Amino acid sequence: MWKLAPSILSADFANLSRDIQKIRTAGADYVHVDVMDGHFVPNLTIGAPVVKALRKATDMVLDVHLMIDRPDQYLDDFIRAGSDIITMHVESPGFSEELIDRIHAAGKRAGVSVKPGTPAEVLLPMLHKLDLVLVMSVEPGFGGQSYMPVADGKIRLYRNTIEQNGYNCEVEVDGGVSEKNIAYVLSCGANVIVAGSAVYGKGDVTDAVKTLRDAGKDY
Ligand code: DX5
Ligand code: ZN
Repeated sequence: MWKLAPSILSADFANLSRDIQKIRTAGADYVHVDVMDGHFVPNLTIGAPVVKALRKATDMVLDVHLMIDRPDQYLDDFIRAGSDIITMHVESPGFSEELIDRIHAAGKRAGVSVKPGTPAEVLLPMLHKLDLVLVMSVEPGFGGQSYMPVADGKIRLYRNTIEQNGYNCEVEVDGGVSEKNIAYVLSCGANVIVAGSAVYGKGDVTDAVKTLRDAGKDY
């Protein structure tokens, strides 16, 4: 069964605790936390203090997506804040494979992400040590964008490589996934789906989660 990771980027920032409780009740799996620094992407969102507060508010898996420069300088803050999964960008200045080991040494799960314009192959040499690979299907920075088909082949490549080698790595897809294309994205080989506007932009969160689950029920 595939996992749903609603992005709180589209939630009510004045009521995050309530909005996370809603997805928990609706049966979502992870809380996807989009961390943006105004440098790696042209937007500013959430920092480690908010992750720390979320940790106190929920027992759900905190799936923290770092869209920041110098993850090496901020990694420890996000570890201490109580993240469960920490995903860095391979394109970030300061990224290195050694950071994956640092995340593991802290007992956390490690992910690495590729932007739409980055060839999928750059992650193949480190796939064996990753818990999660995150395929960006929009340019990172904002919710509510359209899914870019360049993600399809990357999802397939990672899924095939993982299966062929028996790696224990999840394939997460982030950006522009809705009830209209979720079955297709799952058919490409994704097993974790991030959804921001398709969960929090629809009015009723419970209905929105059910609609996505129904649309992906064959996977
Ligand atoms: C984009 C973020 C995504 C985004 C997804 O930079 O990483 O998580 O919030 O939002 P939707 O599902 O609306 O495309
Ligand atoms: Zn994200």
